[in-house]
Amino acid sequence: MDKKLLFIDCDPGIDDAAALLLAAAAPEAEIIGVSAVAGNVPLEHTLPNALALTAFTHLDAVPVYAGATRPLIGEVLTAAYVHGMDGLRGHTLPPHTRTACPEPAWTALHRAAAAYPGRVTLVAVGPLTSVATAFSLHPDLPGLLKQVVIMGGAAAVPGNASPAAEFNFLADPEAAEAVLRSGARLALCPLDATEKAYLTPEELETMAVLGSPQARFFAQVMGETVPWCRDNYGIHGATLHDPAALLYALHPELFTGKACWAGVETEAQLTRGKLFTDAFSDAKKDPNCTLLYDVDRPAFARTILDLMACY
Ligand code: BDR
Ligand code: CA
Repeated sequence: MDKKLLFIDCDPGIDDAAALLLAAAAPEAEIIGVSAVAGNVPLEHTLPNALALTAFTHLDAVPVYAGATRPLIGEVLTAAYVHGMDGLRGHTLPPHTRTACPEPAWTALHRAAAAYPGRVTLVAVGPLTSVATAFSLHPDLPGLLKQVVIMGGAAAVPGNASPAAEFNFLADPEAAEAVLRSGARLALCPLDATEKAYLTPEELETMAVLGSPQARFFAQVMGETVPWCRDNYGIHGATLHDPAALLYALHPELFTGKACWAGVETEAQLTRGKLFTDAFSDAKKDPNCTLLYDVDRPAFARTILDLMACY
């Protein structure tokens, strides 16, 4: 089987952790790099979390790189109210001896993409600061990547970090807008899709019963978000934002999307970080992405349970 080559840029973050667990388990994927960016918590936590997660998932040979410590413009925005001060809600992972590679994330991403032109899928599930930096430093990078799958934005649903904006886009609107304008082949996985991409408490219990430390960690940590997801998204279960983007990279047939134009508001105070798209409008512009807005939830849940059974 020709494996899908993945480079994962993340800000772990509990659902980033879940995405890494799934990617590491997937026989159809080969992870060629992981980079950490400041987001859910500062880089001083996301980087150690990425290192610990790669060790926990037997990805010891996969290089881990440090990315941006702050957005292109403005103040750092965090989401410790969901992810805890350490990014993993206080859950500890087994000790390890891994260290980050000295190369910055943007250099490493460019080198990896140039080594496999047209073959690398970048899965970006944190603020897009490092990705925008990489695109700005290496203008050939968008064309070298097979695809960029982004968890970010809220198109036709309310935001989760402001009434208008989703967290990853609000954390660095300028970076998100730069990536959308980059010419890269983009798939956007916004809240419109991810709020439908959840596991019920019963499915999480089925996962826990699989018994591996990785399955129990996933089920436990994501299970803790069930009350928050009920209150904020009105669903019976744990929303899996970042795993949804990862699953799209591996199994696009699970999702429904459409080619459309998308942009991000960077100026207005009330709507800063808001994703705007013509996907649901008659006023069409030239498409620059595929916007995902629905998922076959039962098949999504089955695929996740199958992947976690690989541990
Ligand atoms: C996104 O924001 C973060 O809190 C999650 O890790 C996810 O990437 C959801 O809005
Ligand atoms: Ca994330």
